[in-house]
Amino acid sequence: MTTTTNTGNFSGRAQQVQSSFIRDILKAAGQSNIISFAGGLPEPSLFPAQQLAKSAYRVLMNNGQEALQYTNTEGYLPLRKFIAERYLRQQKIPIEPEQVLITSGSQQALDLISKLFLDPGDEIIVERPSYLGAIQCFSQYSPLIQEVDLKEEGPDGNQLKEWMKTSSPKFFYTIPNYQNPTGRRHSIASRHDTASIIAESDAFIIEDDPYGEIRFEGETFPTLHSLLPEQTILLGTFSKMVAPGLRIGWVIATPDIIRRLTILKQASDLHSSHLDQQIIYDYLTHYDLEEHLQSIRMLYSKRRNTMLAAMREYFPESVKYQIPEGGMFFWLEFGKQFKTMELLEKSMKEGIIFVPGETFYASNPVLNTARFNFSNTEEDKMKAALSKLGALIKKMEQPQIATVKWWPLP
Ligand SMILES: Cc1ncc(COP(=O)(O)O)c(C=O)c1O
Repeated sequence: MTTTTNTGNFSGRAQQVQSSFIRDILKAAGQSNIISFAGGLPEPSLFPAQQLAKSAYRVLMNNGQEALQYTNTEGYLPLRKFIAERYLRQQKIPIEPEQVLITSGSQQALDLISKLFLDPGDEIIVERPSYLGAIQCFSQYSPLIQEVDLKEEGPDGNQLKEWMKTSSPKFFYTIPNYQNPTGRRHSIASRHDTASIIAESDAFIIEDDPYGEIRFEGETFPTLHSLLPEQTILLGTFSKMVAPGLRIGWVIATPDIIRRLTILKQASDLHSSHLDQQIIYDYLTHYDLEEHLQSIRMLYSKRRNTMLAAMREYFPESVKYQIPEGGMFFWLEFGKQFKTMELLEKSMKEGIIFVPGETFYASNPVLNTARFNFSNTEEDKMKAALSKLGALIKKMEQPQIATVKWWPLP
């Protein structure tokens, strides 16, 4: 049955929000035997399902009455303590449990932050390109979105300085570790640069860090939060470290910001699932997260290497990319005239999908870029699909031979 809804009744916000392009192509991925480089999905065989099952059983058997009850909005205190202590161990910066708010994934944190900071017309700065889900979330609150080019080493410091001089942004949203979509990591110098530029202003840094632990090479770099704690709101999540279906993330900020976000969260969903918080806490305290992270890193870096080798073998030299040292994505730049949306149209017919880069820009989309996910495709399928894609790219790059039409003489 089809019903027609009078959309005039909907709010301006609801009318302007569009469905995510990625979500739309992922729907296509679910439909048939498609090989997808499109989503940002973790590898499901690595989800610790058996261990989580045991945790769920323990929680429900030993503490079921409490775990199934309503709880406070800030989150399960032992879990908040666990998260705070882990940062202390890793970043050597003391974080109190009162500085931790448990959210339903980082995505909810982005929404609560938008509610806290944004009135229509407020200025914010994002990286260019940036995470589509964040751009979409911020856009609901009608801000003026300015962009700073994301270079290989981090955001362009001169542009950031210029924006800070000529406008009064509420915040700078950044993903310093293995960014979505580019896979880039900000250098230590770039982090210091960003922190010192923002320190001169009233603006905040929103540091979104879902991929920091998915590091294949090198050392951990300091968080922006550790460099500028009073002005940085740091977001973390178990989505890529354990399982996204749990929908457990967190915000680290000053107690004042946490209190304000808590009030907004209360109005939004009262609290994140109490049961899921207890299950993940049981998992974290009964099993070895570090060992689990090690197996994620091993598999993803192997897949990164396979994707790299296949692109070197099958793609023409005109396709440029930086080798990601962590995370889940390669960012590809094609020849100037190349349109990755056209490549997608052709590759979909061969059962292969990826995300054209144009979806990741808040304005003036660049048409010759693309994001390829490597965490979610088995290696043999990956090679076969990239070989087919390579052939398509080469064909599209061939100069079109002008066909001369001969008209019959009158
Ligand atoms: C940069 C970034 N931020 C936030 C999210 C949302 O993560 P969560 O599952 O914690 O809501 C994602 C998901 O892919 C992401 O890539």
